[in-house]
Amino acid sequence: MGSVADVILRSFEIAAERCGDLTPLVYAKLFREQPEIERLFHRDISGALKGDMLGTVIESILDFVGDRHFSYVLIQSEVMSHEGHQVTPDVFLTFFPTLADCVRDACGDAWTSDMEAAWREVLAALKACVEQSIEPAAASPDRLASAAAR
Ligand code: HEM
Repeated sequence: MGSVADVILRSFEIAAERCGDLTPLVYAKLFREQPEIERLFHRDISGALKGDMLGTVIESILDFVGDRHFSYVLIQSEVMSHEGHQVTPDVFLTFFPTLADCVRDACGDAWTSDMEAAWREVLAALKACVEQSIEPAAASPDRLASAAAR
């Protein structure tokens, strides 16, 4: 078995070999399960933004399972900045599992138990990352009290 990073990368590679661009699959599933989200993309007539955004999300996940050069901070800042697009943190918590489901479907019979385990681990870590941006430790009463005392 490879590292979690290797296994996740392999799952994306197989999904791309078998299904090409995941963009239509991911957004079709997202909008089927949460129809209210589709209207938030009303300005994206060409679909370019949805494609670019998914590309950034996939790059972020590949960084997140590796050295985390940028992904942790990027995801947390996107959670906050997307409030301006009426995208709540809850939607982030459903977007990542939706992507994982599409990768699994695209891999078909090439999906392995290692991939299942690696994705479960990564989804839990992404969830923690999103939740931490909603409830930053910096805002806890203890931290505020000690900052005020300084
Ligand atoms: C790591 C996760 C994500 C990244 C890196 C990301 C990145 C971006 C970027 C770079 C933009 C364009 C610049 C901007 O206006 O901020 C954007 C816009 C947008 N994103 Fe995301 N995004 C993420 C997650 C999501 C999720 C989960 C949703 C909801 C399904 C979403 C919905 C939107 C919408 C509705 C827009 C505005 C579209 C418009 O202007 O018409 N994003 N995102």
